[in-house]
Parts: sequence; C-alpha cells; structure tokens
Amino acid sequence: MYYVTTPIYYVNDRPHIGHCYTTLLADVAARFARLIEGPEASERVFFLTGTDEHAEKVVESAKEHGMSARAWADRNAAEFRKAFETMGFSNDDFVRTSEERHKSRAAAYIQKLIDSGDIELGDYEGWYDPSQEEYITETVAKENDFKSPVTGKPLEKRTEQNYFFRLDKYGDWLKAQIETGAIRVLPEQRKNEVLGRIRQGLQKVPVSRRVKEGDEDWGILMPGDPEHRVYVWIEALSNYLTTVDTEDRRRFWPADGDATIVHMMAKDILWFHAVIWPCMLHALGERPPSAVYAHGYWIREGRKMSKSLGNFIEIELLEAYIERYSLDGVRWYLATQGPMGANDADFAHKHFVETFNADLANGIGNSASRVGNMIGKYLGGELTRTCNGEFGLPGGKALGIALTAREAAGTAVDDPERSFDFAASASAAVERAQSALGRVALHEALAQGQALVQEVDDFISYCAPFTLAKRLDEFEHADKALATILYSCAEALRIASLLFFPACQHKMSEIWRNWNCSALNDPDDPDSGFKAPLEELARWGGDWSLRAGQRIEKGEALFMRADVNEDPPVAK
Ligand code: MSP
Repeated sequence: MYYVTTPIYYVNDRPHIGHCYTTLLADVAARFARLIEGPEASERVFFLTGTDEHAEKVVESAKEHGMSARAWADRNAAEFRKAFETMGFSNDDFVRTSEERHKSRAAAYIQKLIDSGDIELGDYEGWYDPSQEEYITETVAKENDFKSPVTGKPLEKRTEQNYFFRLDKYGDWLKAQIETGAIRVLPEQRKNEVLGRIRQGLQKVPVSRRVKEGDEDWGILMPGDPEHRVYVWIEALSNYLTTVDTEDRRRFWPADGDATIVHMMAKDILWFHAVIWPCMLHALGERPPSAVYAHGYWIREGRKMSKSLGNFIEIELLEAYIERYSLDGVRWYLATQGPMGANDADFAHKHFVETFNADLANGIGNSASRVGNMIGKYLGGELTRTCNGEFGLPGGKALGIALTAREAAGTAVDDPERSFDFAASASAAVERAQSALGRVALHEALAQGQALVQEVDDFISYCAPFTLAKRLDEFEHADKALATILYSCAEALRIASLLFFPACQHKMSEIWRNWNCSALNDPDDPDSGFKAPLEELARWGGDWSLRAGQRIEKGEALFMRADVNEDPPVAK
C-alpha cells in the first residue's frame, strides 16, 4: 500500500504556487506508485489533499467579507479544487475538515486520548502568534523580538486554561523512531534539525482554545467540555487518518504490515508532522507515518513571496504559463526545479524557459519527433523489424553496418568500440526510479527518463542513421540495420516516456497514441490505469514492447520551442 498526503490548506488563502507545488509532488509520487503497481493501483495507492477550515483566521476573514464561515469556506475550498484540476492532479479524495466524516472521527480520537490520560486539563501561559494560530516558545519569541517568525506580526501574551497533550511522555520513543529510520524525516538535513530539537526535550502541547462568542458552531468542541474547542492544528493533523479510517480504506493505515505512508509539506510545518502527529498516533495505538518530507520554499525572481509585496505566483499566473507552455511544461518545471531539497528555489522566468527548452522541447520532444520523422521517412511509418536475433545490439551487426556507412561518408567516429546497451540502461533506469521513489527523491526519479533520452540522442549522433539511409544500396543488410537502429531508438524512448509520465501525463499519452502503444486502458485519459506493472511495461523485448509492423505516426511537435526573448506570460 502507498498512501501520500499533502498539507490541508487554509481556506482563506488563494491557491498559489506553494500549494500547487506540494500537491504536484504528491501527484507525481502517486502517479509513479500507480505506474509501478499497474492494474492493482486503485487498490494499492491513495493520494489525499484537501482544506483546513476551522482556523480562527477563517472566521475572521469570513466576517471581513460579510459572509458566514461556512459560505466563505465553501467558496474558497471550491477555488482549491478548481486550481488542482487545472494542475491535472489525480488525488483520490479531497477532504474538508468541516465535513462530518472528518469531524466525528477527529472528536473520537480526542475522546480516546482523554480516556487514556494523554490529554489533560491545565493552565497555560505563553506567546501566541495569531497570524499562524500557534504558541511559540519563549526562546523563539525573544529571538524574533516578540514578532511572528513567519509573518512578522506582533505576538500576544496569552494565558488560558487548556487541555494539553502529553507530548512530554513520548520523546524517547520518537527519538528512537527517527534515529532508526522507522519514521524517515527527509531530506536528511531536516532530520538533524528535528532530532536536535527533540533532544532539548518535549513539552506538553496545548490542544484546545476557549470558545469565543460567534464561533460556537465552527470547529470541533472538546468532548465533554463545550467551553473549549479542539485546537485547529490537532484537528487538522488528524485528517490523514480520519479520511482513511473507514472499512474500505483502512488498508492504507493498517495497524502494522505493508503500507508506506508519506506526508509531504514545506519546512514551515515540519514540527507538527514529524513530532506532534507521530506521538499522537502512538498514543492512539496507531502506527506512525513512514516518511515526512519537508521541502523548501519557492521564492520569485530572487525575492521572498509575501502578501505585502503582492508578488505571490497565484494560480492565475500558472494558468497563463500553462496556456503558453502547456500543462506538462509547467508541471515539469515545478517538479524538477522546485525546492525539493533543503534549499529554497527561485521561480525565474528565464530559468523556466531554459529548462523548458533544454529538457522538453530539445529533450524528449525533439528526440521523439526526430525518431518519428526518420521512421516516417525511411520506413514508411512502420517499424519493420525489432532488434532481436541477428541484429541484436549492442555491438551488433546493425551498429557495425552504420559505422561502415559513416566511414564511407567520411564522418567516421573516433571510438568505434563504444557500446550501447539500451536493454540494460532501460532496466537500470527503471530500478533507479523505483528506488528514488522509495526515498521520496522525485526529481531523481524523473531524471531517469531524461537520462535515457540523452542516451538515445547520443546513439543517434553516434551511428548516424541519416547517413546510413543514404547508402542503403552500398552495403549488404543496410536496410535491416537501419530498421533495427530506428527500432532501438523508438523502444528506448517508449521506456523513457513511461518515466516522464508522472510529471508529463498528457504529452506522454500523446506519444503513446501516435505510436499505437496500448499500455493505458484508455490513451485518451491519462488518469486511466496501466495494464501491467512498470517492470513489465518497461521490459526491453517484453510483452509491451514496440513490435515489427507497428505504425508510428509522427504527430505534432510535443513541445514548441520557447522564445527566450518573449515577455513572460501575465495572469489574466
Ligand atoms: N493548514 C495548515 C496545514 C495543516 S496540515 C495538517 C497550513 N496551511 S497553509 O495553507 O498555510 O499551507 C502551508 C503549506 O503550503 C506549506 O507547508 C507548503 O506545502 C505550501 N507552501 C506555502 N507556501 C509555500 C512556498 N512559498 N513554497 C513552497 N511551498 C509552500 O499550514
């Protein structure tokens, strides 16, 4: 089982690049996992995103807009859904914390923690950050001059009678879980940060707020105490479990056994996910997540994005990029150039265009159309033979004949001994992509398809099929050699396209339509399932390989080369 989640986003924000990015990473992970599983995917993979609706700031901004919290949340949750459709996300569910299915289960978890003594009543005084809805420690408050470390807004000293979660009981357990890798905190640098803080000792955390006038029916009340409301963070975290805590989905969060549970987010909310949530789960008698992945932040043209600068890359600007460069172009740029590691990443237009051209227009796009063109021109659009038998590569006869043709044309290569072994490269690429997914290293997984494309390009420059094509009459079996070479290129690109698919599902489906590949149930619907697991689909010379007699239509250019000098798109 593979279960991947995103943070649930505050409904009072407009969907922007940050929300889209984390959700894209989860989408890429889910699509990889489904590709690996094949026909069993819908049974074995689950991808969840959604909205976090019970925050105080939602109530406040609803008031400012003269709306009820419910109506405001409905409106904005719909914006998130729409944005995620625009981005082509394949989430299996979209949870809203205002839904009954979430609220009732979240309340039951709290009750269970009260019963077990893991939640208790006590007094609390501390520095509260209203802009982030969280208490922060005295040290952090001082360090930041009593302003929010995130938004810079003033902190408030608050004293409350509160319910507390006994996080302090679980420090040793948690430390061992993270140190042994039972819970992987990724990337590595984040793990050290989290462990460092855990070693300083864990304190009880407040898990309730006093109910304020006017917001009685927004949120979840503390079971047995209607004066208190469950703190929004505690409630929000539980969405990951409430949504799958049903008969038909419980397999994604089993007590033990085979399930990889991955939480994706940015570094801002790592503490909640790597510390508070696993301990809550442990106290509930549930297993902790397998991995908590905290990426960095997107900044824009070298500057932090903020409300005051008004420079957020909102969904409308992404739409303008999609319109000009295609959805897959935008997904590829975000997924491969984003702040996947510990560092922040800059969304710079120039960099977008360079990446788009290098990886897509001049990369797989060009390679696919070159190979398609040659098959059209030299083989009448039909693969006439495969590369098995007499004309096997590497170092096979086909390559030898091509090199002889190069020699005759006076363009001989320097290193005639160089060998190409696509079968081996393809299976290594697939293996590496699978292992990268296991480490949540999605950019590394995506790089594998690119490496194969590069190898095809190298192979074409090396054996120069266009030279051979001009000299078919001069050498025995030259026509067969040409057909074999073009077959190898097409087959390697077919396998590469599988590895591009999790980020570029539409364009890869387009290749498969043009090349009459049928690994998808429905090539017109990139969300339809695969007919076999990746290992079989990607096997060189396997059941899903291109065959002799198969028609290869050239199709249109997958990615139009982008003009570096054109002004950046603007949001409508
Ligand atoms: N509601 C809480 C999360 C509860 S999860 C149980 C919350 N919501 S949020 O709307 O503020 O979303 C924060 C998340 O949005 C970050 O962790 C990250 O996934 C994404 N991003 C917001 N801004 C971002 C960037 N500038 N760059 C990359 N991702 C960022 O916190």
